[in-house]
Amino acid sequence: MNKILVLGASGTVGRLLVRALVAQGQAVKAASRTGRAVAGAEAVRFDYADRATHAPAFEGVDRLYLLMPADSLAVEAFLLPAVALAAERGVKVVMQSMMGVEHDPAGAYRQVEMALESALARWVILRPNWFADNFHGIWAPDVARGDIALPAGEGATSFIDARDIAACAAAALCTGRFDNQAYTLTGPQALGYAQAAAVLSQVAGRRIGYTPVSDDAFVAALRSAGLPEASGRMLAGLFGDVRNGHTAMVSDGVEVLTGRPSRGLAQYAADYRDALRG
Ligand SMILES: NC(=O)c1ccc[n+]([C@@H]2O[C@H](COP(=O)([O-])OP(=O)(O)OC[C@H]3O[C@@H](n4cnc5c(N)ncnc54)[C@H](OP(=O)(O)O)[C@@H]3O)[C@@H](O)[C@H]2O)c1
Repeated sequence: MNKILVLGASGTVGRLLVRALVAQGQAVKAASRTGRAVAGAEAVRFDYADRATHAPAFEGVDRLYLLMPADSLAVEAFLLPAVALAAERGVKVVMQSMMGVEHDPAGAYRQVEMALESALARWVILRPNWFADNFHGIWAPDVARGDIALPAGEGATSFIDARDIAACAAAALCTGRFDNQAYTLTGPQALGYAQAAAVLSQVAGRRIGYTPVSDDAFVAALRSAGLPEASGRMLAGLFGDVRNGHTAMVSDGVEVLTGRPSRGLAQYAADYRDALRG
C-alpha cells in the first residue's frame, strides 16, 4: 500500500508529475481514460464517468493526485465519489485546484476542496494560476498565427510553469510537511498578455502580438475551432478575474514547497523554444 495514483497522467501537469515521481523511485500508477502505457509507471484506466474503473485504480494506493477535468466540472457525479473512496481507504489526496477559488464557496472547485477538508485525514490543496504552458497548449494556434486573441483586457497574470506545479505536487505527495494546507502557486512576476507576447516573440524569432477581444468573439473563435459553446463560455468567464487584476498576485508557494523560486515566463519560453516556433 505505498503506490501513488496520478489522475490525468496524460495531462499538462500529470505527465510531468509522473516523470518526477518515477525519477525519485516512487511506485506510480499513471491513470488515464485509455490506460495508455507510461514509461516507468504502472498504467491504469480511470474514468470519473465509469465507476467500475475506480476500485481497481485505487488498489495498493496510499496517495492520490486528483484533478478536475476542466471540461466537466461534475462535482456530485465525478469528484465526490472519488473523494469518498479515498476517505474510505485512508488515502492522502493532493488536489490540483485553481487560484482564487477560495473566494467562491459555491463554486465547483471550492466544493471539492471542502469535501477533502472534511472527509480526509491528510490532504494538500494546490491552487495554481494560469499555466505558462497554455502558450504551447490551448493557445498554440494563436501563437502559431502570431496573434494571441483573448478576452484578458489589460489584466496581468503571474503565469506558472507546469514543471513547478509538478515539483510542488511531488513534494506534497512525498512528505507530510505540507499536509492539511492550501497553497497558491504562481510564477515570480505578473505580465499583461502584450508583455507575455513580447517575451514569446523574442524567443520565437518572429512577431507574436496580443489582441484583446470580447467574450463573444472569443467564444465564437473557439466554437469554430471545434470547442463546445459551454466550454468556451466557461473559459471566457475565467478571464473576468484576469481583467479585474485578480490573477496578478505573486505568491511564495513554489519556494515554500520546493525550496527554490518559481520559473519566470522567459525561462519557460527559452525551454519550450521549439514548440513556440511552431
Ligand atoms: N490550464 C490552466 O491554465 C489551469 C490553471 C489553473 C488550474 N487549472 C486546472 O487544472 C486542471 C487540468 O486542466 P488542464 O487544462 O491543464 O488539462 P490537462 O491536465 O491537460 O487535461 C485534463 C486531464 O484530465 C483527464 N480527464 C479528462 N476527462 C476525464 C475523466 N472523465 N476521467 C478521468 N480523467 C479525465 C485527461 O486524461 P485522458 O483524456 O487521457 O483520460 C487529461 O489528462 C483543470 O481542473 C483546470 O481547471 C488549469
